[in-house]
Amino acid sequence: MNSNDDNLLQSPFGSRHLLRYPLPARAQQSLRAWDAADEYLLRWLHEQDLQACTPTLVLNDQFGALTCSLPCRPLWSQSDSWLAQHACQRNLQQLPDNGLEQPQLLDSLQWPTSPLQLVVIRLPKQLALLEHQLYCLRPLLAATTRVVAAGMVKHWPASAQQLFEQILGPSHTSLAWKKARLLHCTPQVSGSQGQGWPGQSPYPDHYQLPQPPLRLGNHANLFSRSGPDIGSRFFLQHLPRPDAGAEVIDLGCGNGILGLAMLQANPQLHMHFVDESHMAVASARDNLAHNLPAVTDAHWHVDDGLRSFADNSADLVVNNPPFHQQAVVGDHLARQMFRDAHRVLRPGGELWVVANRHLGYHLRLQTLFGNCTTVAGNSKFVILRAAKA
Ligand SMILES: C[S@@+](CC[C@H](N)C(=O)[O-])C[C@H]1O[C@@H](n2cnc3c(N)ncnc32)[C@H](O)[C@@H]1O
Repeated sequence: MNSNDDNLLQSPFGSRHLLRYPLPARAQQSLRAWDAADEYLLRWLHEQDLQACTPTLVLNDQFGALTCSLPCRPLWSQSDSWLAQHACQRNLQQLPDNGLEQPQLLDSLQWPTSPLQLVVIRLPKQLALLEHQLYCLRPLLAATTRVVAAGMVKHWPASAQQLFEQILGPSHTSLAWKKARLLHCTPQVSGSQGQGWPGQSPYPDHYQLPQPPLRLGNHANLFSRSGPDIGSRFFLQHLPRPDAGAEVIDLGCGNGILGLAMLQANPQLHMHFVDESHMAVASARDNLAHNLPAVTDAHWHVDDGLRSFADNSADLVVNNPPFHQQAVVGDHLARQMFRDAHRVLRPGGELWVVANRHLGYHLRLQTLFGNCTTVAGNSKFVILRAAKA
């Protein structure tokens, strides 16, 4: 275990050695696996004199700071992010045995089945995810359930409190502490669907793509839910056309828009859809079933990039890379994706990337692959192709 004190979270529940996943690049090594919002939450929760036997759900823990610290059991911890869950799992494994039952990690489509007494929420970046989660929480709450949320003031969504009040009940926010804030909510849940019932989650929602004709559904945490983002729209006009039987990977597939468009043009491809978001892969799977029901042998991977793919196993990777992990903006995930693609492609196999022109990804691909061609470009985006030697 690395005993570097920078990685030691000290809270009233004790000290926890916590690491992010992926580990930050050298330039970002000051990034810790928790922030002041986690510390504020833990301080407040400690003051509540919680009983050990308090059925508790943690939502959207970033790297496990809350899940690793709270002593309440049973403890469920739900996240849409494979990266966040993996960090949490690894941090839990480093804890000395405290005799407590292990927390149960749930993905964003799984919910506890028994009532909760405490719900601890890190406000997510996507407000739609919060909205969906609040609707799904309702049936699990009683009037006595404590619901507390936290976030950093600079990332605090303007309408978060309104959503809590509309869906769960009266809410108020705390004073800021170290630029973090808490929100306390008193659920008003009658349990019946009569007067005052706020309705159902509106997610997944849908949009219709005119060309290629695809009806695309998006679970709540999806990137660009109201229509394709401008990068993907541009990519759709220039997608590669591999031969039937080719092993193709839609890396960071989101709702599957790129892979589905390629399958629509050629249903004989062996298409792999990969994303670290559980909701993304679930959306892509639903979208394939709805739009191309005859294609039954697509492959689904919730994972960090191409970790689980063998070397030299694919003919083509298409990629519209992410530009942030949670609140941290940067190209570290994109760079890892390019390295993964280079490893996984067969000699002669190609990586096609759509990216903002100013990011300079052609230089990176040129260094990694020894070649890089611009397939198309406009004032904002470029589509780059690099072939493995
Ligand atoms: C810019 S979006 C592109 C989505 C879709 N391909 C499109 O063109 O609309 C990037 C996607 O990468 C996913 N992603 C981020 N980090 C990832 C990782 N480490 N491994 C796999 N997917 C990741 C995000 O969840 C997101 O869906």
